Amino acid sequence: MAFKFNFSNDDLDLDDVDQNSTEQIDSSLGDLSLEESATQKVPCSEYDIKACVLPTLLQADILDIPKVDTPLYKRTLADVKFQMAEQDTLLNGDADNEDGKVVEMLNLNSNSDLVRGVYEGGFKTWECSLDLVEYLSQLPKDQITGKRVLELGCGSALPSLLLLAKDPSNHVDVQDYNDQVIRYITIPNILLNTVLTVQESAAPAEDVESSDENEEEEEESASSDDDEEEEGEDGLKDQIIGENVTCDAEAELPADKVPDMLQRITERTRAFVGDWSGLPSLVQDTKYDMIVTSETIYSEEALPALVEAVQKTLKKPDGVCYVAAKTIYFGVGGGILPFCDLLDKSKDADGDKFKVDKVFESESTVKREILRLKWDL
Ligand SMILES: C[S@@+](CC[C@H](N)C(=O)[O-])C[C@H]1O[C@@H](n2cnc3c(N)ncnc32)[C@H](O)[C@@H]1O
Repeated sequence: MAFKFNFSNDDLDLDDVDQNSTEQIDSSLGDLSLEESATQKVPCSEYDIKACVLPTLLQADILDIPKVDTPLYKRTLADVKFQMAEQDTLLNGDADNEDGKVVEMLNLNSNSDLVRGVYEGGFKTWECSLDLVEYLSQLPKDQITGKRVLELGCGSALPSLLLLAKDPSNHVDVQDYNDQVIRYITIPNILLNTVLTVQESAAPAEDVESSDENEEEEEESASSDDDEEEEGEDGLKDQIIGENVTCDAEAELPADKVPDMLQRITERTRAFVGDWSGLPSLVQDTKYDMIVTSETIYSEEALPALVEAVQKTLKKPDGVCYVAAKTIYFGVGGGILPFCDLLDKSKDADGDKFKVDKVFESESTVKREILRLKWDL
C-alpha cells in the first residue's frame, strides 16, 4: 500500500509556524497518549553526521527561557515538515517504510504523543527540558565547561544546545531512539546553535496576521491559561515559556559550505540512534563527565536499559547525571518513584550504586523534578 502523509505542500504555510511552534513545547499534564506496538526495539548504531541531508535554509524559533542568558534556537516543526514534503521518496514512499511510520506521527491530527517501539516523542520539545536548561545555566562555570557530555533521548536536545553554545570546550554526544529525530531535528539544532549565523526575521511572531479561527483559539487558550494561573507560580512559568517561543529566525546553509559545517559538528559531537541497551558497547571506553536526560523515564519497561546505559558510561568517581522528568506519567507507569526504586536496587559490575538528590522541583499541580545522580563509592 502506498504511503502518503497527511499534509501537502499547500498545508505547509510557514505563516502558521507561530501556532505550530507553541505546539512543540509539550506542557501536557504528565498524561502521555500512547499507542502500543509489537515492533522490536531498534538496535543502537552510530549516526553518520557528515551524511546528514540539509535544506538550504533553516527556520527557527528563538527560545527565551527565564534566567538563561544564552539565546537558543530550535528548528520549527513546520520547517521539518516542509523538508519532508519536498523529498519525493517520502511523498511516494510506502506505509511499511520506517520513515513513513515516523512521518505519520508528525501529522498534527494524530492523537498519540508516541507509538512505543516506533516513535518515542522526539519531534516535540518537552517542558522538563526547559527546566534542565534553566538549571544547567545556573551551575557554576567550572561545572559546565570542558566537559564530555552525553544526552540520552535527546529529541530537540535543548540541554545539549546550551552546553555546546555556552562553551566551545564542551564535547556533547547525543542519542535518540529515532534516526529521523537526529536527522531532522537534533543535527539542524546543533548547527543553529554552533556553526551557523542565525538572522532574526524582521516581523516578530505576534505581528503575524491571525484569522478568525486563530482568534477563537486564542480566546479558548486564554481562558485555559486563566485556569492554569490559579495553579500557582509554576503554571504561570509554563505560560511564559510558551509565549516566549517565537518563530522569527532563519539561517542559510549554502550547499558548498555544508560539508565543512558538518565536519565541524563532528569535532565536538557524536550521534547515536536506537535503543539505550546497545549504546554502552558503541561508545566503548568513552566515559562521560556529565549525562543529561529529559522526559525519558515515562515507561517503566524501558527503565532498566536507561539505568544500565548510565551505569556503564558515567565516569567514576566524579561523573554526574541529571534526570529531568515529571513526577508521575499517568497511564504509562513510569515516573520518579519507579525510577528511584530501580536505582536503589541497581548495582553495576563493580557493585557500585548511585546516590540520588532532588535538585529542583516545580510548584505546579503536575510536578516536575530534576534528580542528580552521583556515584556512591
Ligand atoms: C518524550 S521524548 C523527550 C525528548 C526530549 N528529551 C525533550 O525533553 O524534549 C522521549 C525521548 O526519549 C527517547 N527514547 C525513548 N525510549 C527510548 C529507548 N528505549 N532508547 C532510546 N531512546 C529512547 C525518544 O526517542 C525521545 O526522543
